[in-house]
Amino acid sequence: MSSEHHAPVADPSFDVDDPRNTRFDLVREGLRRDGMEIAYYEPAFPPGRKSKVEKRIERSIALLFVLAGLFAVAFVVAYIWWPWKYEMGATASKFYTPILALTLGGSLVLLAFGIIAWAKKLLPHEVVIQDRHDGASPYDEQRLTGAAIMNIVDETGIRRRPLLKAALALPAAGLGVAAVAPLVGALIKDPNDGHPLLKTGWNPENNNGRPVRLTRQDGTPVRPEEVSPGGQMTVFPGIPGGATNKWADSPVLLIHLRQADADRLRASIAASQAALAEGRDVTRPVVDGMWQNFVAYSKICTHAGCPASLYEQQTNRLLCPCHQSQFLITEQAKPVFGPAHRKLPMLPLDVEDGFLVARSDFLEPIGPTYWERPVEINEQEATS
Ligand code: FES
Repeated sequence: MSSEHHAPVADPSFDVDDPRNTRFDLVREGLRRDGMEIAYYEPAFPPGRKSKVEKRIERSIALLFVLAGLFAVAFVVAYIWWPWKYEMGATASKFYTPILALTLGGSLVLLAFGIIAWAKKLLPHEVVIQDRHDGASPYDEQRLTGAAIMNIVDETGIRRRPLLKAALALPAAGLGVAAVAPLVGALIKDPNDGHPLLKTGWNPENNNGRPVRLTRQDGTPVRPEEVSPGGQMTVFPGIPGGATNKWADSPVLLIHLRQADADRLRASIAASQAALAEGRDVTRPVVDGMWQNFVAYSKICTHAGCPASLYEQQTNRLLCPCHQSQFLITEQAKPVFGPAHRKLPMLPLDVEDGFLVARSDFLEPIGPTYWERPVEINEQEATS
């Protein structure tokens, strides 16, 4: 805009209801009243019979929309039928999430390209100079704005481009279904086979009803004397695939407490049990899962599920590196710092044939706190 530019002046005698006005007249008048002037306006293609070029562009855009629709349909199909459960040795399930991302992302990208191409190639080219001002919207301006909006709809050419209109319906429908699929799917698919959050690799069901051994990543079982006082070790359920993604919710930090720390933890558990017995308020469940001076806690942070694995021996704190939550080991792993506000579940320990085993599965849901709800487990089992 040059410095000599003056704000456009609206014509006070302009009658918006004059039937001789074209819609474009109304649009221009509306812009003028808003301090804008159409300096340059040129339709991308003249109205009327479509040229070959116009048709070719239309077909290209329609192709983008059709592909967007097919990708959206592929997302829904993959969401429902692609193998999604982890199985040892199977590779298809590994691609479940990438396939969902590829199909849904592809659909959105193609739809975006189609819309951009439509705007760049088929919409009129125009330059409008605008002066900013404040102001309410009296009747006339509402009328003019309505005309402008209808003009925009017409300029998209949607009315005279049935091919594009039909092609757009496919991604619209596909993405609509894709949007509701996760909501409906969550009601149908159950990754825990009917044992929501209370069944991990430590469940004796996975070991023919026998207690599951604590094992290292290579599958070798752990003897108590292999962990010195003050030492700790990450262990996995001693079942087939126990250290794989199949049981990603099961890693546990085994800690051999020094005598004074073990006494503190025992006192903390006893105090909670007494409070529970007297009906006083206490964080439930109270699990006495120690074996001698050994204790084991779930490594899945109760804030957002990161591995809480930085053990600070001097302070007896277990740190989660993601958002710095800290859990006090000698206080039943209750959170003492950071965003987590539920203690880490304790795995009940025992020793069989000289090896450490889990007496049972966890007695409370592991992982993020948003799963927290009234505990429905057997309180007697927890406190026994
Ligand atoms: S996931 Fe552990 S603090 Fe956030």
